[in-house]
Amino acid sequence: AKIHVSATVNGEPVEFLCDASASMLDVLRGPLGLTGTKEGCGSGDCGACSITLDGRLVCACLMLAAEAEGREIGTIEGMAQGDHLHPLQQKFLEMAALQCGICTPGVLMAARALLEKNPDPTEEEVRFGLAGNLCRCTGYDKIVRAVLETAA
Ligand code: FES
Ligand code: FES
Repeated sequence: AKIHVSATVNGEPVEFLCDASASMLDVLRGPLGLTGTKEGCGSGDCGACSITLDGRLVCACLMLAAEAEGREIGTIEGMAQGDHLHPLQQKFLEMAALQCGICTPGVLMAARALLEKNPDPTEEEVRFGLAGNLCRCTGYDKIVRAVLETAA
């Protein structure tokens, strides 16, 4: 039998039906149509699927969709405010801190969480804060610089 779930996604109430074993990632990208959250590994290793659950960063691939009941989910689609990109998004664009872009939504979610906790991080703190987000393309330097520039 399917499970009925009521949750909040990016501030909007949503309801969906899911299998007991469905991941939050599958439901976001499938029934909810929010494909900004990416699947890299599907096993908690790459960070491409980073979302927030009641404000805390989590891997959507490791979270059961049924666990969203009554909770507040945040995804990359909620990061820009209308036409206004988040300062991190703007800086990543300006500094070309992405290539294929698969890691980018997760990196941005993690970077925002980092800056909320530590608005003036050192380079080491940025690298540590983003250690759970793998990027196969950029070599990380542009990503780290863009986060530091946003904080500056
Ligand atoms: Fe979730 Fe890689 S897809 S951590
Ligand atoms: Fe391609 Fe990071 S830009 S994985």
